[in-house]
Amino acid sequence: MKVLVIGGGGREHALAWKLVRSPRVQTVFVAPGNAGTAAEPHLKNVAIADLDRLADFALAEKVALTVVGPEAALAAGVVDIFRARGLRIFGPTKEAAQLESSKAFAKAFMKRHAIPTAGYEVFDSAAAARAYVDAAPVPIVVKADGLAAGKGVVVAASREEAHAAIDATLGKGRPAKGARVVIEEFLEGEEASFMVVSDGRGVLPLATSQDHKRIGDGDTGPNTGGMGAYSPAPVVTPNVHARVMHEIVLPTIEGMAAEGIPFSGFLYAGLMIDGHGVPKTVEFNCRLGDPETQPILMRLKSDLFDLLMHATAHDPAQPLEDVELQWDRRVALGVVMAASGYPAEPRRGDIVTGLPAESEDVKVFHAGTELRDGQPVTAGGRVLCVTALGDSTRLAQQRAYEVVRNISFAGAQYRHDIGQRALKR
Ligand code: AMP
Ligand code: GLY
Repeated sequence: MKVLVIGGGGREHALAWKLVRSPRVQTVFVAPGNAGTAAEPHLKNVAIADLDRLADFALAEKVALTVVGPEAALAAGVVDIFRARGLRIFGPTKEAAQLESSKAFAKAFMKRHAIPTAGYEVFDSAAAARAYVDAAPVPIVVKADGLAAGKGVVVAASREEAHAAIDATLGKGRPAKGARVVIEEFLEGEEASFMVVSDGRGVLPLATSQDHKRIGDGDTGPNTGGMGAYSPAPVVTPNVHARVMHEIVLPTIEGMAAEGIPFSGFLYAGLMIDGHGVPKTVEFNCRLGDPETQPILMRLKSDLFDLLMHATAHDPAQPLEDVELQWDRRVALGVVMAASGYPAEPRRGDIVTGLPAESEDVKVFHAGTELRDGQPVTAGGRVLCVTALGDSTRLAQQRAYEVVRNISFAGAQYRHDIGQRALKR
């Protein structure tokens, strides 16, 4: 059978690499893919970005299943478009994707369903937001919402910093129409990524993971999409796992179904776990994490194609919970190598050399790469995610960094301490 993966990052390279390992899959198309997916046997890059044209392509090629990587396509309604054409696709509808695309929707939803999260208020006036901050304790968190999204999240250490973040979205000049800020209580603790597969009713948790968001060693410097990740996350003990399922994940899937917007797809709960093992929801994503997916899929022994076909079959006789996923007991750890200038202005066109030969316990997933004269060159912020398996975090880390040190491109940036938090436990 043929599968289509939408996206072109490291997460999508990992998805396509794993899907094509299924004996039932002959070809995985990746739209648009990258230099890594271009080089894999049985993977084919497809240079189509328009979602209607991609549906035409899927119909013409008799694609059996489409899997969506990035949030942008989901928020743009790719699932609705494909389903309307009778195509099988794994992911949430545009309406359900609001769990990620609208922070105000997500926060109100969590309040309605008593799902633990930081206290918050939503503002569309800068003056009211500033007044609220003046009366609240710091640190405090300011998040842009609605059409202003993309300006991101500021964890403000002082009121001045919070005011500046409010002004960047709502203040001075003319704010974008529909712009709002969500102001949130600061949560203390350790973050973890908790991802599940859902068919709208049933839920199957994937292995846990943690990523490293800041660009610099020791969690310093600006936030990025993630500079590395590992699985499992030791902070998610069996007790924390049970609490997350019962207090966060199941009420979310049940709540969405009860509201008539069932969530099928990958659901990613970004967690903050305090010193007593109490989990709270920092955010929801309606997709898999990047780079968390790379180590998670490296540990998944079960057939991902079978799993996602099952999750899109909606067969009441075969509940999703009956599936038992098999995981490699080893630790997987991925180190992101980013382009010169990332995250502000990543440089393109630097030649990548020193990529290793295939091996069972190391895999280099490509992200921002493209082929130029048959040679991979940088073409985005995060360029590669070097992912290794090892019997311990230390061994997986050593193996990944041995490979990282042999790869080079001008201005390459990477953290030297991926996995530190797991090693401290
Ligand atoms: P978000 O885009 O909501 O995931 O936020 C990005 C990052 O900001 C998170 O991964 C956290 O590190 C941090 N963050 C967001 N909200 C909070 C909060 N309420 N308390 C502490 N840190 C937060
Ligand atoms: N690595 C964080 C994310 O994918 O949102």
